[in-house]
Amino acid sequence: MSRPNILSTHPLFPEARAALDAHCDVEYWSRPDRPSRAEFLKQVAPKDGVVCLLTEKIDKEMLATAPKLKIAANVAVGYDNITVPDCTARKVAVSNTPGVLDETTADFAWTLLMTVARRVGEGEDLARSGKWAGWNLDELCGGDVWGKTLGVIGFGRIGKAVARRSRGFGMKVIYTDAIRAPESAEAELGARFVDMDALFAESDFVTVHVPFMAGTHHLISAARLKQMKRTAYLINTARGPVVDNEALYEALKAGTIAGAGLDVHEQEPKIHAGLVSLKNTVLTPHIASASLETRTKMAVMAAENVVAFFAGRRPPNILNPEVLG
Ligand code: DGY
Repeated sequence: MSRPNILSTHPLFPEARAALDAHCDVEYWSRPDRPSRAEFLKQVAPKDGVVCLLTEKIDKEMLATAPKLKIAANVAVGYDNITVPDCTARKVAVSNTPGVLDETTADFAWTLLMTVARRVGEGEDLARSGKWAGWNLDELCGGDVWGKTLGVIGFGRIGKAVARRSRGFGMKVIYTDAIRAPESAEAELGARFVDMDALFAESDFVTVHVPFMAGTHHLISAARLKQMKRTAYLINTARGPVVDNEALYEALKAGTIAGAGLDVHEQEPKIHAGLVSLKNTVLTPHIASASLETRTKMAVMAAENVVAFFAGRRPPNILNPEVLG
């Protein structure tokens, strides 16, 4: 059988390239910028498979331009860039990269949490500015982290990994999710299940770990933000549109909440100008999973899904196994 023709919209890492190149003829996008939509559609049109990033939309239009396509392997755990039902209707397999990025992403949620609560960004700016006048009693006082209440929205693998880290800080953990965790998980993490209202009212830190889908669009709305304590912080490492960024800006500007640490943004790569202008925000460019080890594992996982598919095996992380027939 001839080797499948694959487009990879990123050069990937050597380990992932080696896995793909051993079994497929791969065209790698090699410019440092991302392909435009037109470039992507043109390159993917004749291919049998695509390894893509969350910046590429795999939708009806794209599927129509690539009639031979059989698999789209996303190098991300979130797959809101892919319309899975349309792929299933066209019998195109879809895969993602669950599990390998949980701990790295949880580390980063904590990085944001600590940075915003302890005003590290402002402190760094002052330290580098040459304007620091020396120790002062009330300088850059933030909020304590230890002993506070952490509220986790979405108690999946990443939410739990964030909660686990809070134990060293002697925090109380409350969480909400569509499905309550087993008692053993609650006991292990010392976590208490609450409804959304209680979570927003009781938490000192609200951390978001739900996927983006129709039901989670603006889940963190103006009304929800009003339920938070004035001293509380919001952390988002999930997806930008889960938080109403304009409402968040208004809340932060008015001081009805204390601060926000955001790795994801509503209209990436644009970041809400108001949020950029505030001092009580810590903003990063969607890098929560960006350790070299983890990004390499994600790329290898995507490559392995493609290789398995064309070898007639079940891709380990397939999202729509019904296409396998
Ligand atoms: C994902 O995998 O969905 C992240 O947003 C990028 O690691």
